[in-house]
Amino acid sequence: MTSILILNGPNLNLLGQRQPEVYGTTTLAGIETACRARATELGLGLDFHQSNSEGALVDLIHGAQGVHDGIVINAGAYTHTSIALMDALSSVALPAVELHLSNIHAREEFRHRSYIARVALGVICGFGPTGYLLAIDALEAHLGRVR
Ligand code: DQA
Repeated sequence: MTSILILNGPNLNLLGQRQPEVYGTTTLAGIETACRARATELGLGLDFHQSNSEGALVDLIHGAQGVHDGIVINAGAYTHTSIALMDALSSVALPAVELHLSNIHAREEFRHRSYIARVALGVICGFGPTGYLLAIDALEAHLGRVR
């Protein structure tokens, strides 16, 4: 069975209460439920994780090798800072979709740079929680083409 890993970085555990004017009111648990429903519809396996720690996210990316076929990653603020996450994604050579709830390009200048984008298949941002479903669909379409 084709399987994907969805990774969430720092502060995304606080979705629902964190800056609702930017990130909305849906919790991460709510997003996970919607992702699981979509994966079931598409016949995909799914793992879903959140960590506030950069090293833990690196370990989760390494652990995807040989287990998952692709990764959806909302790396939160590490998107804009983490060469380690970029290198981890390159090292496992799994197709990855970069995802953000907010439109990072319409926000502060420091959010316009993404290390993840350099190694990602593509980037989805600005569609709120729906973006997770779009990312699953995009990855599934890509895997269908390359399989
Ligand atoms: C985010 C955007 C990042 O700039 C920010 O640091 C986050 C959330 C998003 O989903 O919109 O933590 O990744």
